[in-house]
Amino acid sequence: MMRERREERARYAAPAAAPRVFDCLSHAARIRVILRSQTRIGTKDARAGSFSAFESRSGGHVFQDPLWYKDAVFYELHVKAFCDSSGDGMGDFRGLTSKLDYLVELGIDCLWLLPMYPSPMRDDGYDISDYCAIHPNYGSFDDFRSFLAAAHERGLRVITELVLNHTSDQHPWFLESRSSRDNAKRDWYVWSDTDDRYAGVRRIFVDTELSNWAWDPVSKAYYWHRFFSQQPDLNFDHPEVREAIWKVMKFWLEVGVDGFRVDAVPYLIEREGTSCENLPETHDVLRELRRRVDEEFPGRVLLAEANMPPDEVRPYFGNDDEFHMSFHFPVMPRLFMALRLEDRKPLVEIIERTPPIPDGCQWGLFLRNHDELTLEMVSDSERAYMYDSYAVDPNERINLGIRRRLAPLLEGDLRRVQLLNGILMSLPGSPFLYYGDEIGMGDNVYLGDRNGVRTPMQWDGGWNAGFSSADPERLCQPLISNPIYGYQAVNVDAQERNSHSLLNWTRRLIQLRRSTKVFGRGTVQFLAPANHRVLAYVRKLGEEQILIVNNLSSAAQAVELDLSSVAGAIPVEMFGGSLFPRIGEQPYVLTLSPHTFYWFRLRWF
Ligand code: GLC
Repeated sequence: MMRERREERARYAAPAAAPRVFDCLSHAARIRVILRSQTRIGTKDARAGSFSAFESRSGGHVFQDPLWYKDAVFYELHVKAFCDSSGDGMGDFRGLTSKLDYLVELGIDCLWLLPMYPSPMRDDGYDISDYCAIHPNYGSFDDFRSFLAAAHERGLRVITELVLNHTSDQHPWFLESRSSRDNAKRDWYVWSDTDDRYAGVRRIFVDTELSNWAWDPVSKAYYWHRFFSQQPDLNFDHPEVREAIWKVMKFWLEVGVDGFRVDAVPYLIEREGTSCENLPETHDVLRELRRRVDEEFPGRVLLAEANMPPDEVRPYFGNDDEFHMSFHFPVMPRLFMALRLEDRKPLVEIIERTPPIPDGCQWGLFLRNHDELTLEMVSDSERAYMYDSYAVDPNERINLGIRRRLAPLLEGDLRRVQLLNGILMSLPGSPFLYYGDEIGMGDNVYLGDRNGVRTPMQWDGGWNAGFSSADPERLCQPLISNPIYGYQAVNVDAQERNSHSLLNWTRRLIQLRRSTKVFGRGTVQFLAPANHRVLAYVRKLGEEQILIVNNLSSAAQAVELDLSSVAGAIPVEMFGGSLFPRIGEQPYVLTLSPHTFYWFRLRWF
């Protein structure tokens, strides 16, 4: 299956004007030629501003559809925690490269890499001290380039982190800025003689930071920070800062990355008397960056992290001139709420409250990520309900959220894990999987900060879970080793050997999602059956229609669906291909066992 997919992907790579000898080769030999020629291209040093792998690929028509992200399945991972090739206990780019075939086989289209830059690691790399280099723990710059080329050869795209709101306090820009009040870079950051400006602006890391201002003993002034105090905010009112960030973007786009997940975008600009969030001036900055990307690097994607209600995120798409994608944060806690309440209302309500977005734009959906399951955007009573339902132990809570992985949140219940994944893959938007969740990895809430959901990937049941040959004490994080989620019980190797494993099931789910563009591009219409434990919707694109029916309850349910608008259709269950009774004018009756779901293609035979 993997070979077929590689060949199918590689077909897109055929050069526009193929030499005649190429025509005489067998299909497999052609692919080898294409792959070899791609490996040779794009090897000059990107720092020297040379041609890039992407340019060579786009010249070869690899990625033709500029709206590729609308159909893509994304996979988020931390290089540090994925695979260690050098035996130093730290994942690296060579290790990641050796696992690319695993990701292709899973059905992934695009990788999202967590920060991989030099950093003092006060915020797991989100405190960057050099934007244009690779953290030495993860390998060399050449390792990164080889990784990128190897990903592209397999038709995998790669987006990286663009942390623009703040730098590390060890970044040379900040060291200069703090060195004296008349330094040329003084105004690159937000300084004040008092700590009472921008009063009332909320704190985000409420468990650690008492104020958004920190005292700098060097220049004897306060500086502004929305996250840890080791992460001073850049001053985006300063044209040189905007230019410096553009240079960073240009650098990586020339190296060949396919876009950026742009960190913490609502907080770029500060204004007295406001919340300092989502300000019009912030949008101006972002629009300008998008314009420059479109001008020089068309086809690359910008994805916003704006943890806001949907009506406040909507402006980040602009008129299709700001972000291509943005995460839909509130969908995620509401999915968990709907499941616990056994009631579709919280989910339907948030999606129906979501404004339409321009045609070229797309929502990013996720169940879990590298942060806490954030509860910032729910009401106090909803948050209390979520804590009671999913984080009774205070160790499981951090800031305004829950630091747990998907499988333990759902008490290891395979049916609920599958149900939420089924909903994730079938709602409007592009799904993001978090590494390890495809095998049901566990967490360690005693590790501090959000590290408990960032433990090494569990490849097999052997030494260090196949992650590293180092002594276990040396690993970047301890492995999960309890009897339920430990690597001897939960690992890729074991699940590859079991055709009924979560891993194999997830592969199948992704394959079905990829079999049609309806999921990524179609409309959604929710049905309103009397049984509110059932969540049913129809996805439609042109003539194609898919009916999705989910049982949110832990008990079997029967439901009557009003499907008169598609009377005459035969539902074909997508996992098994069985034909269900033809739909008529009368309510369509379905029964569902606990926490199960159906995807039906509607066919008119
Ligand atoms: C984003 C990241 C988070 C980080 C924060 C500060 O929210 O997802 O991990 O701590 O930005 O950079």
